[in-house]
Amino acid sequence: MSGSMPAALVDQIEAVADAGMPEVPHDRSPLAQRRLARRATSFETSPWDEIVALRDRHPDMISFGGGAPAREAVPVARLQAAAAAAWAEMLDAYDYGELAGYAPLRELIAARMARQGMGVDPDDLIVTNGSQQGIDLVAKLMLDPGDTVVIETPAYIGALQTFAAYEATYLPVPVDDQGLRVDVLERELATLPRPPKLIYTVPTFHNPTGVTLPRDRREALLALARHYGILVVEDDPYGELRYDGAPEPPLRALDPDVVYLGTFSKTLAPALRVGWLAAPRRLAHLLAFAKESVDVHNERLMTRVVYHAADGFLDHHLVGARDLYRGRRDTLLAALSTHLPPGTTWTHPEGGFFVWVELADGVAACDLLPRAAAAGVLYLPGAWFSSHADRRDRCGLRLSFSTLDEVAIREGVRRLGEAVRDHVV
Ligand SMILES: Cc1ncc(COP(=O)(O)O)c(C=O)c1O
Repeated sequence: MSGSMPAALVDQIEAVADAGMPEVPHDRSPLAQRRLARRATSFETSPWDEIVALRDRHPDMISFGGGAPAREAVPVARLQAAAAAAWAEMLDAYDYGELAGYAPLRELIAARMARQGMGVDPDDLIVTNGSQQGIDLVAKLMLDPGDTVVIETPAYIGALQTFAAYEATYLPVPVDDQGLRVDVLERELATLPRPPKLIYTVPTFHNPTGVTLPRDRREALLALARHYGILVVEDDPYGELRYDGAPEPPLRALDPDVVYLGTFSKTLAPALRVGWLAAPRRLAHLLAFAKESVDVHNERLMTRVVYHAADGFLDHHLVGARDLYRGRRDTLLAALSTHLPPGTTWTHPEGGFFVWVELADGVAACDLLPRAAAAGVLYLPGAWFSSHADRRDRCGLRLSFSTLDEVAIREGVRRLGEAVRDHVV
């Protein structure tokens, strides 16, 4: 490693390495605090850390906390074959390039979106490092500090983290068993001196509640957005994972001005970090350069892997995945009826990974979490999905059924029921 480095410098580096790094006074020092950007406070904690810290409270922990696909639904052999095909193509692709993403992958995505009623030119698609990056890029492009974003209450944690980093102000709008309360949003908007910049929504198989916005609310939401000139960001990681019921059109299918975020994290694997966004042309252009300023472009290898894995395979793969998740969802709903005390309510999602449970009066899901962890079960408390924890969020919790088999789901819910009963006594 030293190459032609002068010997004295090499000695100096080795001496520092031998001595170990000097202790850096922790970031509580006034100096460090002065040097941090204001937005740094939004990175002080991560909810995932808290869940990881609770994992070893029980030797056989059952966690309903995740949001990943089932291990059995990750097509490992197909991904391995796709990786070999992708490497074989790389001889011509080692340079920088493909700012908006590998063209055949963008064409594949556009064809899949077209089947869901979303006409989109592949040139208006940008491949992203997961849809999380899509949220970040839109926020980067649209938000000045203090700008208002309409968010669902409860809302996807990752989006809250991103908007907080851009110092957004929230307009929280409640979600009921049919998704965003568009009537409440309408009343709120009428009172504001200045319209919000963005409406961020997960209208299909919402994270964390699992509910889906019906057609009439979709149309009303879009009409409001048009009236007030607000950009709608539709985040749709779960739309292709419907287990029953008739599909609703994506918002983007009803209005081409919507920014649409998609991902292969739930249909193939989150580790690939391949998602996409579709935006009106002028925005797409700006978003592409915003992405360039962040990471230049996605990995050219991985976008090829995803293309070769998905092409001619994904539809068939999803048939099996839906069957698996449908069974797990049904097991969870049945177990909740068996084990949760009277007064508890929960949603009945037609797709996605999540069921939202509301505990009977007086049981705050945050307070219950240590007791549940000691009993061997984890979930995400509702307050984590809110910018301000109102009563409903305190009593709510998210259960994810995607990664657990049916035996674990039944046992996990039994433990949860026991923890709730012990807590109330
Ligand atoms: C609503 C929502 N948006 C975005 C993401 C992030 O997905 P990705 O892995 O594509 O970044 C998730 C993941 O859980 C999600 O649930």
